[in-house]
Amino acid sequence: MRGGPSDRFGRHLKDLRISVTDRCNFRCRYCMPREVFGNDFPFLERGGIMSFEEIDRLAGIFIDLGVEKIRLTGGEPLLRKNLADLVSMLSMRDVEIAMTTNGVLLPRHAPALSAAGLDRVTVSLDAIDESTFASITDSGHTVASVIAGIEAAESVGLGPIKINTVVKKNLNEDEILDLVERFSNRNIAIRFIEYMDVGTTNGWSMGEVVTAEEIRAIIGINEQIAPDKKSDVAKRYRLAKGGEVGIISSVTEPFCGDCTRARLSADGRLFTCLFSSKGTDLLTMMRDGLTDVEIAEAIEMTWGNREDRYSELRSEQVTASNRIEMSFIGG
Ligand code: GTP
Ligand code: 5AD
Ligand code: SF4
Ligand code: SF4
Repeated sequence: MRGGPSDRFGRHLKDLRISVTDRCNFRCRYCMPREVFGNDFPFLERGGIMSFEEIDRLAGIFIDLGVEKIRLTGGEPLLRKNLADLVSMLSMRDVEIAMTTNGVLLPRHAPALSAAGLDRVTVSLDAIDESTFASITDSGHTVASVIAGIEAAESVGLGPIKINTVVKKNLNEDEILDLVERFSNRNIAIRFIEYMDVGTTNGWSMGEVVTAEEIRAIIGINEQIAPDKKSDVAKRYRLAKGGEVGIISSVTEPFCGDCTRARLSADGRLFTCLFSSKGTDLLTMMRDGLTDVEIAEAIEMTWGNREDRYSELRSEQVTASNRIEMSFIGG
């Protein structure tokens, strides 16, 4: 098995999450609150984001270094025009390609994405009740349109599909059982995510976290299934009636020890942690004419110096004023 460079704690670089845009067609209150991400928000300019050729070139360098999986993220990745063209380019390489999306644009794009070589999708869905969904996502979109997206993805073979549900106290705990009921028996893996203190705009507090333990109690699960891979973020549990659910407990049961993920922002900066405040500017290096070998060295150096384990420390070390936003780095 290939293994990328190792960081200071012996963690190899294996997964690359690439944000293709910092824009989104939702305004989830906990991620892109409308009063911050309004019409005058300074989103990245077109010239400041990586072209598909630039993304593909960097992907090639990362794959040569040992990356085995690429996940396309946003914002909402399907807002990036002609995304299937990028998938076609990446699919020529020896790498698994997945995407995380809010799903509403899947009916339009799933067939082309699948034909281009996308392997699978993960869809974010925080509620099954339309009015709860509307208050969370603060957009004109509906649960029905997300479900249409999930079905479109299934029908063109973009499975096994995963669903991500962020659980926030007094907001959608009462959706958990309905979501399990709706999806767990359909060859769809639903995963509940503890609400995290990413970025600076969501005003996070520990009191708003529904803990993994509470989620397990609500669903009535405790039989854990062995993970597929050591670096998987979700713990999987078997349901008594068949099927399974996952829990991503980055707050109360952090998994930094196995974290093999690097993140590339849409403007071509390499971040070694979801909670980083600074990235290595690979796009400028490329545009300044550095060779692949020189860029590979910069990546190895950045990864080699990596000491991140934010979720395990969750202290004052990264001050609230300089963390990157989830919508910028794509979760
Ligand atoms: P697959 O195993 O390929 O399906 O990928 P995944 O489970 O990493 O995919 P996904 O993007 O769906 O991850 C689920 C969610 O877990 C993310 O949206 C984040 O909220 C959270 N997450 C993923 N990776 C990390 C990480 O490295 N650190 C923390 N703290 N949270 C993470
Ligand atoms: N905590 C946990 N997950 C979050 N996401 C966005 N913001 C947060 C947060 N504060 C999730 C989205 C999506 C993924 C990209 O990240 O719901 O599933
Ligand atoms: Fe919501 Fe995801 Fe868009 Fe953030 S990036 S606003 S979580 S759909
Ligand atoms: Fe990895 Fe940082 Fe998340 Fe820990 S907090 S799992 S180091 S991304």
